[in-house]
Amino acid sequence: LILVIDYGSQFNQLVTRRIRDLGVYSELHNPSITLEEIKALNPKGIVLSGGPKSVYKDDAYTVDPEIFNLGIPVLGICYGMQLMMHNLGGVVVASKTREFGQTVVSLDTEKPIFKDLQNQEKLLMSHSDKVTKIPEDFIKIAETTNCEFAAVQHKTLPLFGVQFHPESKHSINGDTFIKTFIRDIAGCSGEWSMENFIDIEIEKIREQVGDKKVLCAMSGGVDSSVTAVLIHRAIGDQLTCIFVDHGLLRKGEGDMVMEQFGEGFNMNIIRIDAKDRFLSKLKGVSDPEQKRKIIGNEFIYVFDDEAGKLTDVDFLAQGTLYTDIIESGTETAQTIKSHHNVGGLPEDMQFELIEPLNTLFKDEVRALGIELGIPEHLVWRQPFPGPGLGIRVLGEITEDKLSIVRESDAILREEIANAGLEREIWQYFTVLPDIRSVGVMGDYRTYDHTVGIRAVTSIDGMTSDFARIDWEILEKISKRIVNEVEGVNRIVYDVTSKPPATIEWE
Ligand code: XMP
Repeated sequence: LILVIDYGSQFNQLVTRRIRDLGVYSELHNPSITLEEIKALNPKGIVLSGGPKSVYKDDAYTVDPEIFNLGIPVLGICYGMQLMMHNLGGVVVASKTREFGQTVVSLDTEKPIFKDLQNQEKLLMSHSDKVTKIPEDFIKIAETTNCEFAAVQHKTLPLFGVQFHPESKHSINGDTFIKTFIRDIAGCSGEWSMENFIDIEIEKIREQVGDKKVLCAMSGGVDSSVTAVLIHRAIGDQLTCIFVDHGLLRKGEGDMVMEQFGEGFNMNIIRIDAKDRFLSKLKGVSDPEQKRKIIGNEFIYVFDDEAGKLTDVDFLAQGTLYTDIIESGTETAQTIKSHHNVGGLPEDMQFELIEPLNTLFKDEVRALGIELGIPEHLVWRQPFPGPGLGIRVLGEITEDKLSIVRESDAILREEIANAGLEREIWQYFTVLPDIRSVGVMGDYRTYDHTVGIRAVTSIDGMTSDFARIDWEILEKISKRIVNEVEGVNRIVYDVTSKPPATIEWE
């Protein structure tokens, strides 16, 4: 294990990620971690991450200086290096000139830590404080024109500090540097894989749960499915899943969840058919945010009601990802849409949480899902919003409108799969705007619904572009929807990116 202590840098999630990519298990922990906790983790190396604070200010995050005496190799990155210097007798001050961007760094390549690097490397610098004096036991091993101490190391102990960010893609050969630290200095073998992760997590879950019972809210999405299957593998029937079918799911989805996980994996899943309950609460409501709120709240009530019927459940499992934690922790952005997640449950629930995915990124969760035997088409499912089709029927939701979206969406999905575009397009679905237009079918005038097709490419959903789908494919989809879905006489394709539009229409 390489322990990364998180001082809040925008890059800190990447450090853990790079280390895992190099085949070494790594965990990110809060600065409040104590010396005893660190010792208990028994890491082979410790990385002190970057961060926006200043080590000399009162609100600075600190570290127990004893960690430098444990004999465990420590690498301080940016703030992490400054913290090490500050704690061991060096001086850190605010710099007059900020150094930001890819910078040529001159390295002393005689030093083993720079093995496999050139004398000059382009590395990312991003700092406004700098070290002006290093402790007596340290030596300088790199510099830039603006930064005297671009890297330092202890004369005898395995302590290193770098002002640059090796984890950033803007640091050419940054990976090589990290690799040398974790393999050669910390002595990790680089054999970690998802398989090991499963073994480690299963052990942890068994230890945490003992012979008690766990409850999991299953939505059928990738994260909750992987969570449930992993926990099921650890504790079998001690796990019960509640699957709330709010009637706003895609065609066939509810049955698929039951077949795949209930029967396929032999898991205990209680399916709650709550369609009427949701639709009656949504009656007459057309404002998107209000719809989201109603759906989110109702989900909680339904879940709560069902959970209340079960006895002696102590734990609640959630498919929180690493990025969810990062995003909710650093979210300062204005609310564009309140992304109610089906997993978001009230704080006053009397459960202890189990979140076995909270150190993983989305693509790692997919790899884990495959390793656990979940079929590829499920693991690679496109994102689906918690409020489901409820925000794809624009305006007031009715059964008829839901049916149009459900059927047209099923056709779209089928044709995208036929065209082999499932992985290329990040998200694709149909929406039903609240408009009707005139058409002609046979000899008759029609006055029917318009269906919108939305298909976007994206990395993370934060920004997106509309997918350049071939006309022929769109034509086929359009014809099929108009012919097969009653009440539709016109199809439009959404050609806006995000921004200025959003991915969903509501
Ligand atoms: P937008 O529409 O904001 O969507 O560009 C970005 C991503 O978030 C999903 N989305 C939601 N997910 N609850 C969710 O769980 C929501 O209320 C919600 N609204 C949007 C959307 O599908 C896309 O993947």
